[in-house]
Amino acid sequence: MKKVNQLFVSRFLHNQIKVIVLLGLSIFVSATATSQNVKGGKKISPDLFGLFFEDINYSADGGLYAELVQNRSFEYSPTDRPEWNPFSFWEYITPGFSYGSISVETKTPVHPNNPHYVVLNIEHVGDGGGVGIKNYGFDGMVIRAGDKYNLSLFVSQLTPEPVSISVSLQNRKGKLLAENLFSTSATGWKKYTASLIAKESNDSATLVIMATTKGKLALDVVSLFPEKTFRHRQNGMRADLAQLLADMKPKFIRFPGGCLAHGDGLGNMYRWKNTIGPIEERVEQKNIWNYHQTVGLGYFEYFQFCEDIGAKPVPILPAGVSCQNSGGTWRIGGTGQKAIPMKEMPDYIQEVLDLIEWANAPATSTWGAKRVAAGHSAPFNLQYIGIGNEDKITPEFEERFKMIYTAVKAKHPEITVIGTVGPGQDGDDFTKGWKFANQLNLPVVDEHYYCAPEWFMGNLHRYDTYARNATQVYLGEYASWGNKMSNAITEAAYLISLERNGDVVKMASYAPLLAKKGFTQWTTDMIYFDNVKIFPSVNYYVQKMFSTNQGDLYFDKIISKEAKDSTLAASCLNDSKTGDIILKLVNVGKEPKTMKINLSDFKNIISGAEKTVLTGNADAENTFENSTSLVPQVSTYKVSSKFEYSVPAMSLTVLRIKTKSN
Ligand code: AHR
Repeated sequence: MKKVNQLFVSRFLHNQIKVIVLLGLSIFVSATATSQNVKGGKKISPDLFGLFFEDINYSADGGLYAELVQNRSFEYSPTDRPEWNPFSFWEYITPGFSYGSISVETKTPVHPNNPHYVVLNIEHVGDGGGVGIKNYGFDGMVIRAGDKYNLSLFVSQLTPEPVSISVSLQNRKGKLLAENLFSTSATGWKKYTASLIAKESNDSATLVIMATTKGKLALDVVSLFPEKTFRHRQNGMRADLAQLLADMKPKFIRFPGGCLAHGDGLGNMYRWKNTIGPIEERVEQKNIWNYHQTVGLGYFEYFQFCEDIGAKPVPILPAGVSCQNSGGTWRIGGTGQKAIPMKEMPDYIQEVLDLIEWANAPATSTWGAKRVAAGHSAPFNLQYIGIGNEDKITPEFEERFKMIYTAVKAKHPEITVIGTVGPGQDGDDFTKGWKFANQLNLPVVDEHYYCAPEWFMGNLHRYDTYARNATQVYLGEYASWGNKMSNAITEAAYLISLERNGDVVKMASYAPLLAKKGFTQWTTDMIYFDNVKIFPSVNYYVQKMFSTNQGDLYFDKIISKEAKDSTLAASCLNDSKTGDIILKLVNVGKEPKTMKINLSDFKNIISGAEKTVLTGNADAENTFENSTSLVPQVSTYKVSSKFEYSVPAMSLTVLRIKTKSN
């Protein structure tokens, strides 16, 4: 109950909000009020559809994270990839017959977490030239005429005299697209900032940092962001990609993985404390998907993004064991699962507890103070924590999971812990994982499966037989191996089954979410992009139609179809916040089919419903060249208390029906 101070209330605020007027003093608004137009229905999870985010396929660095400089801290190494080194994606330049030397050093870094930096010794500066370095970004930098780009870099002047520096954006032929000049003013490390306004647009620009007077200096953490990040956040996200995710109105976002969470061996686990604070203090590391993580998109940024788009954060922390595929190629294990030594487990458990303090506690707490210092005084309202990611269910895993779970439950009973039941829809780890979850009476476990469309169609009743009022399911990763319309519509039929079982299935997220063209380790994915363009797959539109049309009550027997027709699926939900009735109708078949809808149990229906339809050829899919051909069509549709609807072949329809207040 939320108290609102107010003298008199002359009208009800909303049709489904119960308002009790306490004369002359205050009103109480019930946050869980149900619509007066709707009776009955089965309560289902209000958090059913959300997003899975993992830095796979260059989803974070080079993707959602808007940083334009690649290898900004000179921390790339052969550990990431044998052919990489601290100077990868940089070039040493000496235009105008200038000369000097360059070295990568580690003696006196900006911060010990960030050991490598570049030293430039400028011996001679020729006409209009200098000695410097050029960065090629992630396959070039996309800049737009008139837009502002914010540069920051650390410079240590190593000779007594100040050194003049030119920072510029250039096209591949060396034409200046933007420039700013400054001089060093300190002999120790100092952070300099400069803005660059692009004179013209370019899709493959480079950033040049060039000393134009003699001297010696060190450079590190060279960062360039567009001013126009999502919500103009500093250290922010690429606006177009982030907006596409925001448009889905996900109820939650899971991060940072996937396998990235438990990592390639113990030293590669994603440790959240390494990913907060100033970017120069974060601990960069190899990405399990064979590239590099700056962790510039770290826990603060994930939580902030969740808040910005109204999604609940769902961090997944390692269960004290690394990925069982560590040291090998994917799913062909090398060193196998490694466990944190028992003597280190108390510290590790504290790390998990500290995350809850960091997210939710006030500034008077040690970790809450760090969140506040980073600019977020209000709590992030963390409710869920995942422990483990499809780990092999070994005695080592079980022992560590139980320790972590027991500690979290004891100290934070308000947090819902999500367990893990292996990498597949069945099998040894699945069986052992569920047995273990039942023993511990876990609130939720994370199921993962990537299967053929036939499997999904054959399993539309999977959750009908799961125990009620027992451990619930988070379907944390799933996809039907394809981006054709038939894949997407099959997934839609499956999502109907999740809604029907929304009392058991608490959450679900398609995976993976993002994939960069030419930098993809995993197909299929939901959204494809390059530096300029984005193309959402048809699977994205199915996800969006479900996630923007969620409800909290499920109604049986509203929609009837030919009982034996397994190509049809349908659901009827009520969203008690808006009072809307939401019908979803799926036809995976080759012919249009009629469904009969009986809304006579609902009162005060407004006949002009919003109709959204996604349909197309079974084999059709969106492509980079043609990304707008298969998109949902929105129109108005007249409904009555009883009506028939012809569901097009290979389609998903959402009918959103408003109800009048009494
Ligand atoms: O989604 C891609 C990968 O699939 C995830 O990292 C892992 O959890 C799963 O095996």
